[in-house]
Amino acid sequence: MTKIHNKIFNIKLKSPIPVDEFVEKVLYEPKVGYYTSKDPFGENGDFITSPTISNLFSEIITIWLISTWEKMGKPKKFNFIELGPGDGSLTKILINTLKSFPEINKATKIYLYEKSNFLKKLQKKKINNKKVKWITNFNSINNGPVIFFGNEFFDAIPIKQFTNKNNQFFEKCFTFESKDNISEIFITGNNQDRDQVRSFKTLEKLKFIEFPKKGFLELSKIIKKISELTGGILLIDYGYSTSRNLNTIQAVMDNKKISMENMFRNLGKADITSLVNFSLLKEFFVQNNLKVTNIVSQKFFLERMGIIKRAQILERKMTKKQKKYMSETLTRLLEEKQMGKLFKVIFGYKFNNNNFFGFE
Ligand SMILES: C[S@@+](CC[C@H](N)C(=O)[O-])C[C@H]1O[C@@H](n2cnc3c(N)ncnc32)[C@H](O)[C@@H]1O
Repeated sequence: MTKIHNKIFNIKLKSPIPVDEFVEKVLYEPKVGYYTSKDPFGENGDFITSPTISNLFSEIITIWLISTWEKMGKPKKFNFIELGPGDGSLTKILINTLKSFPEINKATKIYLYEKSNFLKKLQKKKINNKKVKWITNFNSINNGPVIFFGNEFFDAIPIKQFTNKNNQFFEKCFTFESKDNISEIFITGNNQDRDQVRSFKTLEKLKFIEFPKKGFLELSKIIKKISELTGGILLIDYGYSTSRNLNTIQAVMDNKKISMENMFRNLGKADITSLVNFSLLKEFFVQNNLKVTNIVSQKFFLERMGIIKRAQILERKMTKKQKKYMSETLTRLLEEKQMGKLFKVIFGYKFNNNNFFGFE
């Protein structure tokens, strides 16, 4: 029998709690939540993300940033904000890579937007650089274009789940029936959520709907900043681009997917994510007056940005063992059956130039 029960997560017995509120508690409840109590990254953690697989990924994102800054006319003041920086791997490489490009290095302020205090400490230790500022809102950024970047940021923000039955709208909730027994129920959804969901063409005709209400609240703050200062948001995540009646919530523990029953028995010990609906994301950007690029696969984006060429250059100075390792990590990032196809990339922006690299 599980030792983890409702009281640890501050959840009342027999009181239905919407899926997103439930997942939020399990991931972020102080001291016991998944992201507030452990380091989940790397081979010894529960999952491995692109920046923790290969520095090449972070270098290529930096090269994309430099090319975008150039396309924006090399502004003297420029801001890079990493959303949900995890263990800090990407920004660490970004800072090192930018050192070889003095003009943009001088122009760029770097901000990290992180919700978990536990991960913030980890990031500060790893990055150890006074140039970087940690922020909880975007109020202090007032000068120069802004580029927001998130790798597996959006999928980590809990989503809501609804059903449409005979034109009636229901929300999926979880309930602790007793302290260690959780069940799933549907309650009548509220009208505001129903109207927001129904404003999206992408979700029309679906019987089962996944809706990133919390994610869209985060994006609204970001888009407000982009609209004020110009710039954009580059998002990379695992997801799909044709809306389907699918429950995509999944739990991962020790680098393996686990069942929902297993997740309920391991609250706070497993990561819980969902696939990102990229066509919905695109529609949201357009609703909010941003321009958008095509939705492309991670393989397409990284190859267009020259990852293979860069690997060939690095290879020249490598030992056999190093070459083998780099080739394995590249396969992982690019292979269609691994991260190459399922991971997708989109750039929403406000700027008069429309030809950003990586998407055509
Ligand atoms: C799956 S991890 C990805 C980490 C990193 N980007 C990587 O690729 O290795 C999700 C990250 O987003 C952070 N996060 C999730 N929701 C957030 C929010 N609403 N505001 C700020 N950070 C958030 C998590 O704490 C974590 O650092």
